[in-house]
Amino acid sequence: MSQPPEASFQRCIDPACGATFGLTEVLTACPKCQGLLDIAYDWNRQSVPQKLTAFERKYATRRYPLHFSGVWRFKELLNFAPDDRVVSIGEGQTMLRPESEVARYVGLPEGTVFLQYEGLNPSGSFKDNGMTAAFTHARMTGARRAACASTGNTSSSLAAFAAATRNRPAGERIEALIFVGSGRIALGKLAQGLDYGARTLQIQGDFDDAMKQVRAVSTRLGIYLVNSVNPFRLEGQKTIMYRVLEGLNWEAPDWIVVPGGNLGNSSAFAKAFQELKALGLIARVPRLCVVNAAGADTFYRLVNEHGVTWNGGKFDRAKIDAFYKQMDAEDRHAHTVASAIEINRPVNLTKCLRALEWMNGVVLQSDDQAILDAKAVVGRGGLGCEPASAASVAGLKQLVEKQIVSKGERAVCIVTGHHLKAPDVTVAYHSLHGEDLRHELGRYQIRENPFANSPRPVANDLNEILRILGDPKETGSWDA
Ligand code: F0G
Repeated sequence: MSQPPEASFQRCIDPACGATFGLTEVLTACPKCQGLLDIAYDWNRQSVPQKLTAFERKYATRRYPLHFSGVWRFKELLNFAPDDRVVSIGEGQTMLRPESEVARYVGLPEGTVFLQYEGLNPSGSFKDNGMTAAFTHARMTGARRAACASTGNTSSSLAAFAAATRNRPAGERIEALIFVGSGRIALGKLAQGLDYGARTLQIQGDFDDAMKQVRAVSTRLGIYLVNSVNPFRLEGQKTIMYRVLEGLNWEAPDWIVVPGGNLGNSSAFAKAFQELKALGLIARVPRLCVVNAAGADTFYRLVNEHGVTWNGGKFDRAKIDAFYKQMDAEDRHAHTVASAIEINRPVNLTKCLRALEWMNGVVLQSDDQAILDAKAVVGRGGLGCEPASAASVAGLKQLVEKQIVSKGERAVCIVTGHHLKAPDVTVAYHSLHGEDLRHELGRYQIRENPFANSPRPVANDLNEILRILGDPKETGSWDA
């Protein structure tokens, strides 16, 4: 059994404030200074294994739900809840795979590029890692309703976890309330929320509008908010990094590359490594690369064009405020084919500035064409991804081109969401050509599809089918 949870608490990330709060308080910002919150641990009062290999012991007892979960298997490193409060749906059964086609595409040697497939989670994205932690905390605080704004994956995950509480006694169920931008989320994700029984509000606006509304509604109605401003969410997402280490025999890679939307994942990853280093469980921290979509590039621009840094907590708030003011004045909205990261006001911006400092990180942006090309290359490996996830691979390609990553370094791209979340974009990319392609995807500046694997229409006629299959001039590589 685990330690009692008193040795953990909530703490403001601003070093000048550093206010602390008990675990049962439901907070999404510091009540004193409005800074973001961390979950902090008094490691002297937690029993943490001496070596990361100790976690392998849990494999033998995986019939126990907390050991089956790829999140709670590492509970000693996020020990804020009693075991009997944990809400798990079998999340985190994901894997790290070397992908040679992706390695070739980005220009690195085979065996040095890995994809961490978080699309294998029960709701099809990395969000389940965080949602299990948020639901566990929600249960600790007696919440009855949970809400989020979403570009689709947080909402799918919230809906799946809420559905899992339906077989509990009436007083222990949690209902899901979802805010999405109208027409802004991939169909597969909308389908999940509806199917799993979540109450869904389609706001006439984009994600940033939905986020603003859900914050107001959850405060007004006392609804538990599960967006990544919730510090417990990010505790669960730390475990993605533990599984990356596990996949690499507990040796840190040189680079972690991740798409950046609300910047929760990247913030969580840095916290994971910072803690492991402080505990002496790893020798060195990898570098971080956060990849924005070019049409949703607030973080990229603030860091690279405006020179904003964490600066030990003394970041330049005036520059950030001025940036947003300008954005409002121009009525600028995020726009990208990677709908999951179509976000112009990332809620974890300051935490991610800290992440860059902790992991010697860089921020890149990728245009939609590069994202869809990278997505097609990932798909060829047999476990595809949704567009936003491929931003990591497009980002790694740039890192190599810019000689920031060199041959011999090992890089892990986080594949954040499942292939089937947005099949319409995939089918359009592969099937359409010329004007048809530009007509369908032109609003995202997609001009070509060099990695298309197009279906070939054929008459319902055996001879014609055999003729095509035997004709070397036909485009398919099958008979080549
Ligand atoms: N990839 C996918 C597939 C996502 O769904 C998201 C975020 C991200 C990357 C970005 O992660 O926010 O931690 O930087 N999706 C959120 C949602 C916003 O509502 O599902 P982040």
